[in-house]
Amino acid sequence: MRLDYPRKIDLACTPTPLQYMARATDEWGGGHRLWIKRDDLTGSLLSGNKVRKLEFIAAHAFDNGYDTLITCGGLQSNHCRATAFVGAQLGLKVHLILRGEEPPEKDGNYLLDHLAGAQIDCYPTRVYVKELESLFQKLQDDYAENGHKALVIPTGGSDGIGAWGYIAACEELRDDFITAGISRAHIITASGSGGTQAGLTLGAKLHNLPATVWGVNVCDDEQYFVDKVTSDVADWRCRYPGVPDCDMHPRVLDGYVGPGYGVAEQEIFDLIAHLARMEGIVLDPVYTGKAFHGMITEIARGRFDGVRDIVFMHTGGTFGIFPQRGGFS
Ligand SMILES: Cc1ncc(COP(=O)(O)O)c(C=O)c1O
Repeated sequence: MRLDYPRKIDLACTPTPLQYMARATDEWGGGHRLWIKRDDLTGSLLSGNKVRKLEFIAAHAFDNGYDTLITCGGLQSNHCRATAFVGAQLGLKVHLILRGEEPPEKDGNYLLDHLAGAQIDCYPTRVYVKELESLFQKLQDDYAENGHKALVIPTGGSDGIGAWGYIAACEELRDDFITAGISRAHIITASGSGGTQAGLTLGAKLHNLPATVWGVNVCDDEQYFVDKVTSDVADWRCRYPGVPDCDMHPRVLDGYVGPGYGVAEQEIFDLIAHLARMEGIVLDPVYTGKAFHGMITEIARGRFDGVRDIVFMHTGGTFGIFPQRGGFS
C-alpha cells in the first residue's frame, strides 16, 4: 500500500541485517527456522529500536520549530540515551526526567546520557509516577520563559509519530522475507512502552507483510499492552487523518515479566550468556533477554506450530548489561 510518510531525518543505519540463527535453531527451533532482525545494529550510540522512532520525531521537532527535547524513562533507559545522542548530533538541547534516585556511580546508559551533555533530573519512583505530567509541564514552561520551544516526547518515543519508525521497518522486513525465502512468519518483539509493537502490527497490515506480530511484555500485563498499542494507533490516525483504515489485533505473550520490570531471574542471565557464546549475539536482561526467553518457551509449547519461520526482533539495549554485570555468574 502506498503511504504518505511524514519527513524523517536519517539517523539509523538501515536496512539492518536479518540473520539466520543456525545453532539456536538446532537447540530451540522445534522444527521452526529462527531468524534475528539486527536492530541492535541501527548504530553504536544511536542504537536499537528507538532510533527508528526518533528519525520521525526529530524531523517533527525541526519542522515545528522546537529547539529542545524533553523525555523520560528509567535510570537505564535506552530511549533516553538515544534521545540524548540525537540531540547532540542534531544540535538540539535534551532534558531527561529519570525515574530513580541518582546513583552513586554513573554506568551504562546513565553514563552515556551525561557524556552526550543531556540535562538530567532524577526523581524517586513515587514522585515520578505521581507527578510526571506536571514535571513535563513545568519544564516546558521554564524553557518557554527562557525563549526555547521544548517538545515533550512520551516514554519510549511511543506515540503516533514514533509509530512510523516500525511501520517503515515492515517495508524492510518485506524485502528481507523475499531474500530469505520466508513465505509466512511469526515476529516476536519485546514490549516496554508498546510503540515498537504498535508500529510493527500496523506496518505488517499496511504493507501486506505475511507475519503475525507478538509483543512479549516486560512490565504490566496483556490488557495494558493491548490498550497501549490500540491507543498509539488511534493517536497515529488522529495526527495523520489521510492514512488508510485497517483492522488490527495486538497480540501479547504475557507471563515473562519475571520478578518485575528491570529485574531478571538467573535463567535470563544464563540464557544471555549462552546465546552470546552460541551465536555471538548479546541480549539484555531488561527487554530482549526476557522476550527471547518468552519466544523459546512458547515454541516449546507449540504456540507457533504450522508456521515455519520465526523472526526475533533484536531491539538493542546492550548498554543495559553493564550495570547488571553482577547477574552473570
Ligand atoms: C532494548 C529495548 N527493547 C525493547 C524495548 C521496548 O520497545 P517499546 O518501548 O517500543 O515497547 C525497549 C524500550 O522500551 C528497549 O529499550
